[in-house]
Formats: sequence, structure tokens, C-alpha cells
Amino acid sequence: MDRRSDGLATARAGNGSGPDDAAPGRDADRARDLDARAAGDREAAEAEADRAAAADAERRAEAAATGLADRDADGGNGHAAANGAGRVVALGGRTPAGIERATPAQSTGRARIPLLDRVRGHERASAFIEAADEFLGAQGFTEHGFRHANLVGHISFNVLTHLGHDQRTAELGAVAGYLHDIGNVVSRAYHGQTSAMIAYDLLKELEVPPRDMAHVLSAVGNHEEQYGVAVSPVGAAVILADKSDVHRSRVRKDASIEMDIHDRVNFAVQASFLRVDLQARTLTLELTIDTSISQVLEYFEIFLDRMIMCRRAARTLGCDFKITVNDVPIL
Ligand SMILES: [Fe+2]
Ligand SMILES: [Fe+2]
Repeated sequence: MDRRSDGLATARAGNGSGPDDAAPGRDADRARDLDARAAGDREAAEAEADRAAAADAERRAEAAATGLADRDADGGNGHAAANGAGRVVALGGRTPAGIERATPAQSTGRARIPLLDRVRGHERASAFIEAADEFLGAQGFTEHGFRHANLVGHISFNVLTHLGHDQRTAELGAVAGYLHDIGNVVSRAYHGQTSAMIAYDLLKELEVPPRDMAHVLSAVGNHEEQYGVAVSPVGAAVILADKSDVHRSRVRKDASIEMDIHDRVNFAVQASFLRVDLQARTLTLELTIDTSISQVLEYFEIFLDRMIMCRRAARTLGCDFKITVNDVPIL
């Protein structure tokens, strides 16, 4: 029993009414009990204050790491207001602790994405995404499970919302982002195409209108750098969200970072975050890289095609694409 509960128990025991209250020494006992209860309450209050302070410190550290609190033009802090001119807005990414930070509610103030909720609730979608991640793990690829699917879906939604696209378009971006890698359940090769075919069946069952389906299918089928092109704002948002998800938390536990350059580069990335400057019309991928693990050059050695694809995707959205590494602009 801890000291607090002991104090409360003592206080409770001495707080009854009845014959014992009239016993000799009752006042002294009650005084001791009240002292004990006061001490217990004080300790409880102190413990609560400690917990609150620790939680606040954690929130501040996280905000500093992610920059999730948006910066307006004069450098002040505040929460996101969708489409506020001149604002630099956090769209999402992964923190140094590997925590995904991309919830639409945090970035856009829009808490619900009904169509995404329906797709996420589809049993086959969940089973295939889970299995695809297992199969990719068996082949030595990085994490492609629910964390990646949700992150890409949410960042796509945030990109489109902040750049002024309507709710429906942003929802289609969220769904395309969520489903873009589901075809890995079939094979890694041409998984953009197989993902689109699987998505077609799912969306048909959910009675998504054909024109909306077309936007999702084209975005999913065009997300791989080997053959993909940003053919629409939805497709562009998915490309940017997908290619910016590079982070050590995606590396498998049994990976060899000495032997595999993809694992090494991913492991070296301690934080990755996508941000939009609405006034400058720029989309910036902010990377924090541990250069003792992998040199910046290695990042471009394997991801150059992806970065070129992101630049074209940003143009489709009427923006320039920028990259900073350890706070240094390099593109
Ligand atoms: Fe993919
Ligand atoms: Fe992906």
C-alpha cells in the first residue's frame, strides 16, 4: 500500500460516526487522522502536478520535433487554419520517436474522412494490407503496413485540403493513399497496377461513383517511380505523401544496415516531415539525417528518381518542391 492510500484508509477509518466517536482520546485520534489525510491529499496533488508537468514536457518536445504547431508568416505559433494565406502548415511525417504525425484533425481541423473510414472498415482491405506487409518483410523490404498506409492516406488528405481542393477530392486522396500499396499482396513487381485492380473491387462494393473511382485508380496505378506520372491532383498528393515517408521506424528488426543501402538510408533518417508554405507555394520535405550512419549522398543515390517524381507532382499542384536536410536547403 502506498503512502497516499494508507493515509486515506486511516482517515476513512477514523471518520465514522457512532459509539467509538465518544471514546477517550477521540480528538487526538481524529487530529492524527486528519493530518494523515491532509498528507495523503498533498502527495496526491503533488503526484498529479508531476504527471501534468511530464505530459506537458512530452507534448512540447514532440511539437518541437515535428513542428506540428504551425508557423505563421511572422513566426508565431498556432494551430492550423485550413488554407490560411501566408501560413506554413505541417502536413505530416514521422517524429524522431517514430510516431506518425499526420492526423487530419491536427493539420486541417477536419476530423472525419467518411469514405476512408468505410474503406478501413472493409475486412478484405485490412487482411490484404496486413498480409502484404508480411510478404514484403519476407523479401526484406521496409515496413508497408497500416502505419505506412494510414500515414500516406492522411498526408494526401492534408496536402489537398491545404491547397484548396474540396472535401471530396481530399477524401479520394486519402483513400488512394491508404490503398496504394495493397497490391504487394500479389507481388512487389507492378504492385501499382495490382493495387489499382484490388482497389477497384473494393470501391465497387462500397458503391463509390465511377468518376471518383477513376481518380483513386489512376493515383494508385501511378504511384511507382518506374512508370508512374502525376496525372491529377489526387495522384500528385499520393506521390508526395508516399515518397516522403522515409524513416528509421520503417526498417525491419532483422535488417542489416551495413549490407543494404535502402535499410541504411532509412535507418539514418531520424525525422521526416512534409510542410506546405501557402504563400510561397512550396512543398518542403524536411529530413533529419544521422550522417554518421549514412551520408546525404546515399539518400540521393537511391531516391533521386523519387525526388524528381515529387518535383513533378508538386508542379501538378501548382507548387515548387523543396528539400532540407538537417535544416540546410539542398533543393
Ligand atoms: Fe508502392
Ligand atoms: Fe508506399
